[in-house]
Amino acid sequence: MSEPVKESLETSDGQKGSTAPAWIFALTLLFLFAGGVYFDHRSGWFDPQVYAPYHSSDELEAYQPKSGAAAMFAEGKKQYGMICAACHGDDGLGKPGQAPPLAGSEWVTTSSFKRVEEIPQLGLTGEVHVGGQAWSLQMAPMGAALSDSDLAAVLTYIRGSWGNKASAVSDTDVKAMRSLVAGHAPISGESGLNAIKE
Ligand code: HEC
Repeated sequence: MSEPVKESLETSDGQKGSTAPAWIFALTLLFLFAGGVYFDHRSGWFDPQVYAPYHSSDELEAYQPKSGAAAMFAEGKKQYGMICAACHGDDGLGKPGQAPPLAGSEWVTTSSFKRVEEIPQLGLTGEVHVGGQAWSLQMAPMGAALSDSDLAAVLTYIRGSWGNKASAVSDTDVKAMRSLVAGHAPISGESGLNAIKE
């Protein structure tokens, strides 16, 4: 005759296997209940009026009132996005065959901004090296139509973004540059840039 099958919860030494005590269930239920009450009071039940109008913390940040340097930087970023990013990219890395990088560019990050500030004002044509790579394209005077303060903001933005750490450019700097170069032809490449007194 075969032995009777041992009760499944019995361990080899004949002890009853441990089952979770009832108080754990009671506590779990209590936590679930408390969580439900908390959710009910705080969540707004996903009502869009509670969560709107912002969809992300970036968006919220964009609407925060800014002043001084932060306002100028935000304006520069906006103008850059509307005008320059088409060729130089949102990441400032440029695009092969289209435009050289501004991130890490030796023309952008100079201590004096006398050269870089003329580029968007007059345009640039002919050979220029950026980070050891030669470019021989043409850039129209993409910043000539901007106000003094907007062009200053764009220049400040490109000199201070993507790891670039060069000083800001003010609207009075841009104004002075504009009266100095009024009527000048586009800058002719690297030699033209080097001819501008820093
Ligand atoms: C339509 C495309 C285009 C747009 C838009 C454009 N650029 Fe350029 N940019 C170029 C090209 C192409 C060159 C290289 C010209 C050459 O080879 O002589 C250049 C060169 C430069 C340079 C010098 C080289 C370097 O990489 O450091 C700077 C600085 C610059 N651009 C800034 C700007 C700024 C600021 C704006 C926006 C106001 C802008 N660009 C908009 C195409 C563009």
